[in-house]
Amino acid sequence: MILRRNRRLRTTQAIRSLVRETSIAPTDFIVPVFVVEGQGIKQEIPSMPNYYRYSLDLMQKEILELWSMGLKSVLLFVKVAEHLKDNKGTEAINPQGLMQRAIKAIKDVCPDMLVMTDVALDPYSKYGHDGIVAHGVIQNDATNNVLAEMALSHAASGADIVAPSDMMDGRIFDIRSLLEQEGFHNTGIMSYSAKYASAFYGPFRDALQSAPVDLKNIPKDKQTYQMDPANRKEAIKETLMDIEEGADIVMVKPGLCYLDIVRDVRDAVNVPVAVYQVSGEYAMLKAAAEKGWLDHDAVMMEQLLSIKRAGAHMIASYFAKDVVRLIS
Ligand code: PBG
Repeated sequence: MILRRNRRLRTTQAIRSLVRETSIAPTDFIVPVFVVEGQGIKQEIPSMPNYYRYSLDLMQKEILELWSMGLKSVLLFVKVAEHLKDNKGTEAINPQGLMQRAIKAIKDVCPDMLVMTDVALDPYSKYGHDGIVAHGVIQNDATNNVLAEMALSHAASGADIVAPSDMMDGRIFDIRSLLEQEGFHNTGIMSYSAKYASAFYGPFRDALQSAPVDLKNIPKDKQTYQMDPANRKEAIKETLMDIEEGADIVMVKPGLCYLDIVRDVRDAVNVPVAVYQVSGEYAMLKAAAEKGWLDHDAVMMEQLLSIKRAGAHMIASYFAKDVVRLIS
């Protein structure tokens, strides 16, 4: 005789929804937004089907659409013109730069939208690296000075949260210190604290045309600053240090391959944990669905649920609009 029948709680849709432990809602998402210079531009990113770069005017329209769908946070990335790239991040701290104008353009049309900004030098670097290159290495401390100025410039333009994605040591401390010193007490920091040197960033680097170039001694895969995918304990070390230095939200990136890390981090910290489901994860599913090999919506929901179940409080995802359309 069987007394414990687990299938009782699976018999109907109503009971299944009652005992479900994890759910997905529009408020879970941070929407990455790619911005380009120009007017009337909406360019599809070749390796990211149905995902676009927008000029500021069409970005404003997109922002209003996101808001109307209940998507209330965006993470901004800019595609910088080649002639503005150098090895010092000059354009990154230009008060009239594309990022700075994009922040203002969003706040003009949708002041309540939570605006997060990417803080890293790669889109501005002629070498495609997140830091300043000299003597065959990425210069950690010199990069931090620019990152702090960059974060300050985003804050001054109206960003709510700055999101350093560079993986230099000590950058959270430098950014927090400068923000405090300049009176930006309420500008938050979402730190990419456990960011791995992942091959899943390929489509993103297409989107911004920011892929690293060939350099002697400096690996193109960013392994001298981003983390080794083989390491688990190190993610906790990185994350705890970033919290100590002043991070308000910490992040694990990429998502699906790193769900053990997500759970470890969630259990180890008392701040909100974000997960970035990255461009390569998006591209893989879009490609398989295009071929008819996977059920797009079902796999998308399963992946996002799994990321939340692993411990994410919030997810940066290119699927945000697809999800809201599906569940509403
Ligand atoms: C910039 C940055 C990257 C991503 C987010 N911020 C690329 C990189 O580190 O090379 C990747 C996001 C994605 O793949 O979706 N430092």
